[in-house]
Amino acid sequence: MPNNIQLDSNGNLRHFLTVEGLKRQTLTDILDLAESFATVDAQSVKKVPLLRGKTIANLFFESSTRTRTTFELAAKRLSADVLNINIQTSATSKGESLLDMLHNLEAMHCDMFVVRHADSGAAHFIARHVAPHVSVVNAGDGRHAHPTQGMLDMFTIRRHKGPDFGALRVAIVGDIMHSRVARSQIHALNILGVGELRAVAPKTLVPPEAGALGVHVFHDMARGLKDVDVVIMLRLQRERMQGALIPSGSEFYQLYGLDANMLAHARPDVIVMHPGPINRGIEIDSAVADGEQSVILEQVSNGIAVRMAVMSMCLGRAPDAGEGA
Ligand code: CP
Repeated sequence: MPNNIQLDSNGNLRHFLTVEGLKRQTLTDILDLAESFATVDAQSVKKVPLLRGKTIANLFFESSTRTRTTFELAAKRLSADVLNINIQTSATSKGESLLDMLHNLEAMHCDMFVVRHADSGAAHFIARHVAPHVSVVNAGDGRHAHPTQGMLDMFTIRRHKGPDFGALRVAIVGDIMHSRVARSQIHALNILGVGELRAVAPKTLVPPEAGALGVHVFHDMARGLKDVDVVIMLRLQRERMQGALIPSGSEFYQLYGLDANMLAHARPDVIVMHPGPINRGIEIDSAVADGEQSVILEQVSNGIAVRMAVMSMCLGRAPDAGEGA
C-alpha cells in the first residue's frame, strides 16, 4: 500500500495510517512531541488549546478499551470537540454505506476520523475518500497495522532505555502472525535502528515476511529471551485464526507463557510489555504482568501523550517539541 497518501506536499503528516515507510525523523518528532505532552498529564488542568475549534470523530467498528478511550482523552486534552459514534446504533444499521456516513460527518465539519476496523486496509480506503481538510488516524485495521500503539510502545521503551535503540535487543513473543501491533512495532523498531529484533513463537504463528523484515526467529522461548532488554508479549488472537494453529491454551502456556522462571533468561533490567488486552495464564503469569518489571499500565498512560502528538501533527497544530506544549 502506498505510504505517501499519509504525507502532504511538504512531507508533513496528514494522515497516520501505518508506520511503514516513514522516516526516522518523523518517528522521533512524534516521540519528542509526546514527551512534551506527557507533562500535561501531571498538571492539575490537563488541557492545552492546540485543537480548540477542531472536531474529531471516533469510529470504532471493532471493540476497544484502551485505544478508544485514550484517543478520546487525548482529543479532549487538546481541547477538541469529540464525537464517539456508536456504530451499532448509527444509520449504517439501516443500510447506509460507510462512505455516506463519512460524508455526512464531513458535512458536520469533522476534521479528523479515528478509525478502527476489522478489515485490513480500511483506514487507507477511508483516507482516499475523505475531503481535503479531513485527516484519518488508523486505530487498528485487521491484522495490518496499529501505528499509534506501535509508537506508544516506542515511547515507553525510550523512556526506560534511552534514545539509542541500536543498543537494544527486543523480543516479541506469541501470536505475531495475526498481530497488527507486532507489525507496527517491527516497522517502528527497524526505522529507529534497533540492535536486534527477535520473534519468539511456534512456526504457525510467525508471519512469512519475518526474515525479510530482519527479525531473528526463535521457536525456543528460553533461547529467544536470552539477554534481551525488552520483552513484548502478545495475546493469542483466536478470533483471527482459521483452523487449529496451536495445540491448546495450556500447552501454549507451557511453551510460550511468560512466568518469572522464563523471564530470568532476559537481562536483569528487562522491561515487560503487552499491548493488552492481557490473558492471564494464557500468555503471561499474573506475577509477571503485575510485577516490578512490567510497564503494561505505563503503556496505557503513554498512549494519551502519543495520541495527542499524532493528532496535533496531522492537523498541522503541533508546536515545536522543544517549545513544550
Ligand atoms: N491495545 C489495544 O489496541 O487495546 P484495545 O483493543 O483495548 O484498544
